[in-house]
Amino acid sequence: MTTADYTAANADELRRRMLDDLWTLTALRTQTVAEAFAAVPRHLFAPEATPEQAYAVDTAVITKRGPDGAALSSVSAPSIQAAILEQADLGPGMQVLEIGSGGYNAALLSHLVGPTGHGVSVDGDGDIVERARRLLAEAGYPRGRVVHGDAEHRIPGEAPFDRIIVTVGDWDLPPAWWDQLVESGRIVVPLLMRGTTRTVALEKTGGRLVDRDHQWAGFVAMQGLGARGETFLPITEDEQVVLRIDSPADTDPQALAQALRGPRTEAWSGVEVGGTEPFDDLDLFLATQPGRSGLLQALPAAVEAKLVSAWARWSAPTYYNDTGFAYRTTRRVPDTGRAEVGAFAHGPDAQASAGQAVADIRTWDRRHRRSRQRAHITVVPAATPAQALPTGFVMNRRHTRVIVTWPTGDGHTAAPCG
Ligand SMILES: C[S@@+](CC[C@H](N)C(=O)[O-])C[C@H]1O[C@@H](n2cnc3c(N)ncnc32)[C@H](O)[C@@H]1O
Repeated sequence: MTTADYTAANADELRRRMLDDLWTLTALRTQTVAEAFAAVPRHLFAPEATPEQAYAVDTAVITKRGPDGAALSSVSAPSIQAAILEQADLGPGMQVLEIGSGGYNAALLSHLVGPTGHGVSVDGDGDIVERARRLLAEAGYPRGRVVHGDAEHRIPGEAPFDRIIVTVGDWDLPPAWWDQLVESGRIVVPLLMRGTTRTVALEKTGGRLVDRDHQWAGFVAMQGLGARGETFLPITEDEQVVLRIDSPADTDPQALAQALRGPRTEAWSGVEVGGTEPFDDLDLFLATQPGRSGLLQALPAAVEAKLVSAWARWSAPTYYNDTGFAYRTTRRVPDTGRAEVGAFAHGPDAQASAGQAVADIRTWDRRHRRSRQRAHITVVPAATPAQALPTGFVMNRRHTRVIVTWPTGDGHTAAPCG
């Protein structure tokens, strides 16, 4: 057996294991998408990684970093790609636009739309475009077209598309995306909402984009004209702890830093989570309550120094004001394998803000957690007047207004806010 034969056999086995893991995670939901993952040799699109890394189900292979070390491009993790392709509901013969290129996803798309369909991928980074073109050709997918350009603009000579699949974290939906999508077409987009990112499958209908599914996800940030309108407020001088918010700075980070140096108030909800039950819907619920809200994020050293709870390492929805903040955390319930959800708060209003967070956690548990009606996400053009909006929490962007509606379970929707 040559090394090449060994690697091919090894890659086949790794690919089989990846498929098993994707089914177990429920990232795969249909045989059609599973067949695409079985057919396309992912390791050929990730030569920067070992085959083991390339096929690790939750691992993105970083292909480019900025001067500050932040990831600018990656071949996304298989679990995220599978979830997005399931959300896209692709079929033979479709015309598809992929925003953000890596090669692998374009090959999966090409498999799913078949010989009568057509896929085009656009990336704003010339190195990534060249890399994707080369790898697609080498792996035997010469039909996948890769275009160099900012996705904020139309792709000349390609529209209309049945599907647009955005594979980069996004804050807004530029008019070019609406215009290039057919009526009843679907766009899947990782949408940032007050720090929280969810891939949302939106269907174009009657001048609106209406959600058909949404799931938690993490992505590298959009660059170029569509670069996100987020602000990172430094909560420690060395920026070990930051608060991500959707707006320009609307509070003094030094006041929050001072609050963090002071005592911590804890409040506990009695609401338990655990096992395999995800509770990312709770984080979306907290992110879409009235008042100022963002996402606390910390580097490992800040967690090790016990400045913030371990949750801040990943994502901790946070209420804040001019003098302090409260964020969602959990604590272990002894001998059960479960955890209780609560809040840590700092600042002069800590008691009240932790109390508010806990009250909201209980509302989510009582009204929404077991409901079959999940939150609805609707996107409308920015010029849509307030009286024409669906009821819900409104987030205003440059080109759009994003509305999150929480059904109350009794047929009514939550009061308007935002
Ligand atoms: C996560 S990677 C894409 C992953 C890829 N779809 C795959 O096969 O795994 C995100 C890409 O989006 C690109 N990107 C960021 N902002 C962009 C923009 N405004 N227009 C086009 N591409 C952009 C980046 O250069 C990066 O290569």
